[in-house]
Amino acid sequence: MAVPVILDCDPGHDDAFAIWLAAGHPDLDLRGITTVGGNGQLAQTTHNARVICTVAGIKDVPIAAGADSPLIRTLQTAWDIHGASALDGPVLPEPEVELDPRGAVAMLRELLDESAEPLVLIATGPLTNVALLLRLHPEIQPKIREIAWMGGSTGRGNVTPYAEFNCWVDPEAAAVVLASGLRFSMVGLNVTHQALVTEEVRDRLAAIGNATSAFAVDLIDFFRAAYQVSEGMAAPPLHDPVAVALVAASSIVPTAYTRLDIELHGTETLGATSVDLHNKLGRPANAHVAMALDAPRFWDMVEAAIRRMR
Ligand code: RIB
Ligand code: CA
Repeated sequence: MAVPVILDCDPGHDDAFAIWLAAGHPDLDLRGITTVGGNGQLAQTTHNARVICTVAGIKDVPIAAGADSPLIRTLQTAWDIHGASALDGPVLPEPEVELDPRGAVAMLRELLDESAEPLVLIATGPLTNVALLLRLHPEIQPKIREIAWMGGSTGRGNVTPYAEFNCWVDPEAAAVVLASGLRFSMVGLNVTHQALVTEEVRDRLAAIGNATSAFAVDLIDFFRAAYQVSEGMAAPPLHDPVAVALVAASSIVPTAYTRLDIELHGTETLGATSVDLHNKLGRPANAHVAMALDAPRFWDMVEAAIRRMR
């Protein structure tokens, strides 16, 4: 029985692969896509989600736009990594997929409410939409089986020395979602930096030979150049599909049930994810934190999903 999921994202080069994996994995049933300001402005991430689905021939998944800014802070985008369009690299076709008029929170609530079974919310951007859903519609919580988030890190950050981008953009939203008590899985940089798009991976995806793989390679080439300049990394980490892989096949992304706290006040550490792996603080565990990645199985999963696209 496929796991019903909704993907909340900020496309975003790696978000594109998360969309394709969520739509293409046989053990997942993608019920909807919602967008949030993050890698780009909301209008850009929303347009990009529609383009990504158009390229892949994903026409039956509703897409709704969410929050254009964090709960209390001003949106800081990742233009240095994703470019001016937030999806630089390939030529972007006109989207053929329409935008659902409901808006993200309303669509999330309706999709959850009408589902016969609880759904998994996979989030690969700032958690603003998910926090708003939980605050505006707390009654919907029983229909959420798990929140699986690409964000944070058990170690260093990527925007500041201690904060990862998705958490740094809206740390208050991450704290609200974590405090909900829902099952919360965090897939951080400590693991996603093992999902490196090497030349071999790039060539393997290029060999698929469909329209989506050609688009994917153009995304990778831009993403790789940006990571070389910004991070000095020869191969870029494909963060977001790792959170999808966790839901599709949990053995690929082993986790530890431990204590997670979000830093909301630090001058140098704002947005840091404090993961108390050795229970130094004696606080109760509250999150399933990703600790490893079976990279060969992960790339097999990504390749198989892209093969199922147009
Ligand atoms: O830090 C990596 C995360 O920030 C990824 O989700 C990427 O798409 C950006 O949103
Ligand atoms: Ca993202």
